[in-house]
Amino acid sequence: MTTQEQIIIAAKHIQEGRLVAFPTETVYGLGANALDPIAVAKIFELKERPTFDPLIVHIASIEDLPQLTSFKDNRVTLLADKFWPGPLTIILPKSDLVPDIVTSGLETVGIRMPDNPIALELIRQSGCPIAAPSANKFGQVSPTKAKHVRKQLPDVDYLLDGGSTKVGIESTIISLNEKGFEILRHGVITREEIEQLIPYFSLDENNKKNIVSPGMLKSHYSPNKPMYILDKKLPEHFDKAKAGLLSFTGNDCADYKIVELLTDNKDLRTCAVNLFAAIHRLEEADIEYIAAEPVPEMGIGIAIMDKLRKAAYRYSN
Ligand code: TXA
Ligand code: MG
Repeated sequence: MTTQEQIIIAAKHIQEGRLVAFPTETVYGLGANALDPIAVAKIFELKERPTFDPLIVHIASIEDLPQLTSFKDNRVTLLADKFWPGPLTIILPKSDLVPDIVTSGLETVGIRMPDNPIALELIRQSGCPIAAPSANKFGQVSPTKAKHVRKQLPDVDYLLDGGSTKVGIESTIISLNEKGFEILRHGVITREEIEQLIPYFSLDENNKKNIVSPGMLKSHYSPNKPMYILDKKLPEHFDKAKAGLLSFTGNDCADYKIVELLTDNKDLRTCAVNLFAAIHRLEEADIEYIAAEPVPEMGIGIAIMDKLRKAAYRYSN
């Protein structure tokens, strides 16, 4: 586990323009000083991430917000009061202080306050907002344990080990428009929860074309073996004896070489917590295929199915 001394060492790396992997409540992040474009460029290099994919900026206090956005709207305060610290990223117009490389040249910046004491203390000790994508190689499965980061990014300057992350999938991302909010990426904070504060309003498809959002990448979170969702017919060559199953109900598990039961009682939140770690284990296992049982597409299930579809996308056509 992480000590205060380690956080202080990590903060020094951030201040001096190096990269630190750190736990958040969702997944591990690969962080750099968000206001230092050279440091941020190193994130794209280490992750092998295309620079058209913008980063989320992490803050530790609501007082860090005005330097990043000039946007004043009481809806932001409402959302922050209810959901921060927590897994909600809000897309806001960026201030001049935010380097273009953070936002991939967009006029907006994604901001969130993570609900993890190590992350918050790291931001405070660094004295700057921290830009951080998930700490995996681009397109691969997100890390929910320090060992997943070590496997994918062994060359990171410093890694803070905070054990397993408690939410397990990435933050919900929303943007605001004149009439309400819309969801750019589904997460454990659901549309229904946000609708209790502000109305949902999706801009028409024509307007949406210009928004760069993670939803635009159909393939993502790709495991190193073919993956199939069991709502479609399996290919002829698929063999349960050579496959691992991601199971939601515990039904029809017979004949699979390995079964990863994601929840004992069909609880979607537990399923989200365990999902990426289970996929990481199946990546390491001696099997040829991964099969995934679909989960009910409601509430958090929407985000889980979104991850499964992206992971299986390459093999679903
Ligand atoms: O839970 C999380 O959000 C984690 C932890 C580390 O905070 N971070 C994370 O970052 O998932 P990343 O980079 O893997 O995914 C962030 C997504 C990107 O795919 C990007 O397209 C979207 O956020 N994004 C960032 N800024 C944006 C902006 N200004 N407009 C639209 N989408 C944006
Ligand atoms: Mg990611």
